[in-house]
Amino acid sequence: ELGDYAHFMQKEIFEQPDALENTMRGRFSEDGSTAQFGGLNLNADELRNVDRIILCACGTAWHACLVTKHLIERFARLPVEVDYASEFRYRNAPLSPTNTLCLVMSQSGETIDTLAALREAKRKGLRVLAVTNVVGSTIAREADGGIYQHAGPEIGVASTKAFTSQLLIGAMLALYLARLRTMSFTDGAAAVAALRAVPALIRKTLEQAPRIAEIATRYAQVTDMLFLGRLALFPIALEGALKLKEISYIHAEGYPAAELKHGPIALISPDCPSVFFVTRGELFSKVVSSMQEVKARGGPIIAICTEGLELPEKLADARIDIPDCHEAILPLVATIPVQLLSYEIAKQRGCDVDKPRNLAKSVTVE
Ligand code: M6R
Repeated sequence: ELGDYAHFMQKEIFEQPDALENTMRGRFSEDGSTAQFGGLNLNADELRNVDRIILCACGTAWHACLVTKHLIERFARLPVEVDYASEFRYRNAPLSPTNTLCLVMSQSGETIDTLAALREAKRKGLRVLAVTNVVGSTIAREADGGIYQHAGPEIGVASTKAFTSQLLIGAMLALYLARLRTMSFTDGAAAVAALRAVPALIRKTLEQAPRIAEIATRYAQVTDMLFLGRLALFPIALEGALKLKEISYIHAEGYPAAELKHGPIALISPDCPSVFFVTRGELFSKVVSSMQEVKARGGPIIAICTEGLELPEKLADARIDIPDCHEAILPLVATIPVQLLSYEIAKQRGCDVDKPRNLAKSVTVE
């Protein structure tokens, strides 16, 4: 089943172009300006009346929710909250069932905390949608409607293709909600074109695997690593840190880059590399100045950077390029280098990549 791959995680990383093709299949409108979903069980008017969305999930799926929040708020201008499912189930959030929609995300569809959050939301009268990868899973069955990921079975404990397919669905949902509100046909068509380009862009990014393996050899023996990104790339910083700690047992943390000076900068030293997401856009110069703060304290920098973007000389010790792309798909494309980096580091440390210690693929007990 592994074919030419050394681990399921590696296979699943490289399967992403196909998995994402499957996630998108049949889900764009004929006029090419929006997404469409068959199983929401909510009509356009009901969705237009939604004025608040609550997203609940655990682990990697929770990171996908953070990106989805960013995209829905950015494109549909709808307020979104993100909760850890384990907290939502107990914190008795004030809810007004009429116009609030709850959406849970779970690759397996069996995570007990996410299931309990779904049940709690339903008990309080909310409509609950689910994004899951497993057809007929408990969460899929109990939700009022939902979206299947169609990413194919994921064996590696560290989630990869299921995460990017959740990001893709989040972007498509944001587009769909935005087109029911204020987004223009032209902006919608541009977003659809960008989404359709995802498999090709991922393929291109995956070509950097050998270079990332080489970078990994330089940092495989460190004990700490920071991941720093802003806006929709902050959740990808969290995801990079989670991936690395899960499979390599290196202590890693993700932060919005500007938070560095509020504490984590104390960790910076030649033994603690920082992975920065640095892309074109409004916050470029702010991220560069965070990088300079790290550099000034002797911290090594790995920059995941838009191709062609010029960085101050000698700022980055290693650079991994990602293609320039539409903001709806940027988090997805930026995920690929951190998946490969953590995979390569774990492999070089001789870790059991597919079955990391203390972890289970699906957490079905509280
Ligand atoms: O099946 P789920 O998406 O509900 O799983 C949620 C988390 O347990 C899962 O994403 C976990 O964080 C992974 N090991 C991450 O790689």
